[in-house]
Amino acid sequence: MTTTPSGAAREIGVGLISVGWMGKLHSRAYQALPSVYPELGLKPRLVHAADTAEDRAAYARDVLGYEKAGPTTAPYWTTRTSRSCRSARRTSSTTK
Ligand SMILES: NC(=O)c1ccc[n+]([C@@H]2O[C@H](COP(=O)([O-])OP(=O)(O)OC[C@H]3O[C@@H](n4cnc5c(N)ncnc54)[C@H](O)[C@@H]3O)[C@@H](O)[C@H]2O)c1
Repeated sequence: MTTTPSGAAREIGVGLISVGWMGKLHSRAYQALPSVYPELGLKPRLVHAADTAEDRAAYARDVLGYEKAGPTTAPYWTTRTSRSCRSARRTSSTTK
């Protein structure tokens, strides 16, 4: 069980690249997670979807419920990844 100390479900952010058949299917699977596997204590949050087709990106936002969608996730992932890498480098250098 991965709940927080207070017992609340732990939120996990979801990023999606490509809103085709597979992207839609996987998004629905994430949304169903709390009811299908309540023992996991996870609450998925659909954060960012990318698709080069404008109508697919709009579908991700308007129908699937992603908070952001567009032709690329680059600004988001570059920032997040750089931050994670810097943090991982700091951690590994301090634990040596
Ligand atoms: N459909 C299946 O049963 C299945 C099973 C296993 C694996 N796959 C693989 O999953 C992938 C997607 O399959 P699908 O059936 O969802 O395809 P799909 O044709 O339904 O959707 C593909 C989506 O990718 C988007 N796209 C294309 N280039 C992109 C880019 N550079 N950045 C972001 N989005 C882009 C398209 O606009 C389209 O919306 C493929 O590689 C496929 O081989 C599919």
